[in-house]
Amino acid sequence: MKKQKHDNAENDDVMLDDYIIPMLLEIMENKDQLTMVHSSRVQRIVDYFIPELLKHKIIKEKDVPDLWVSSILHDIGKIFVKDTILESKLTLSDNEYEHIRYHPMRGYRLVKQLDLPRKILLAIRHHHERWDGSTKGRFPAYPDGLKGLKIPLYARIIGIADAFDAMVSKRSYKKPIPVEKALKIIKAASGKQFDPKLADIFVNRIKKVLENRSII
Ligand SMILES: [Fe+2]
Repeated sequence: MKKQKHDNAENDDVMLDDYIIPMLLEIMENKDQLTMVHSSRVQRIVDYFIPELLKHKIIKEKDVPDLWVSSILHDIGKIFVKDTILESKLTLSDNEYEHIRYHPMRGYRLVKQLDLPRKILLAIRHHHERWDGSTKGRFPAYPDGLKGLKIPLYARIIGIADAFDAMVSKRSYKKPIPVEKALKIIKAASGKQFDPKLADIFVNRIKKVLENRSII
């Protein structure tokens, strides 16, 4: 991780970068390699997104370190999810979905005790909310059913990168889908699952990145 100041005091930066964040990543990696790989990929995807977010004045340069940390830690709550569910090759039962959907809140409660910046806490808690606030269907909003701009900015950004990586990655229960198709799905879900302005910027940015190099 590149070293830059968090939106916090100097001593807190040392604690965060040198002790707290590496410790959390170590725990996450030990618990579940797949979640760690996914988190690193989401951080890399957010990295592709950042120049456009800066250009459109959606974030400022000083926001970048906290956005990186939010990206890598967004699924930290999965350390509390049962291995049998994380590793399941089968369609999950309603109870199992309920268990896994508790991970944003578990992650939020964990990092809250470590006194991380509030924007990071909120990104972890709200990365599975939906722009339309719908709590129905295959991809319901959780845990709070927030809607539109009430969803914290980093959570809206990470929500897109997270969904994109989930689609283009192989899982024990599914094949990866082509990047172009994933971008079409994100576009179609713009204004429903995703912040329309961010979804638009994301799709255009990834298309440009793909013109020059492979992203996966
Ligand atoms: Fe998640």
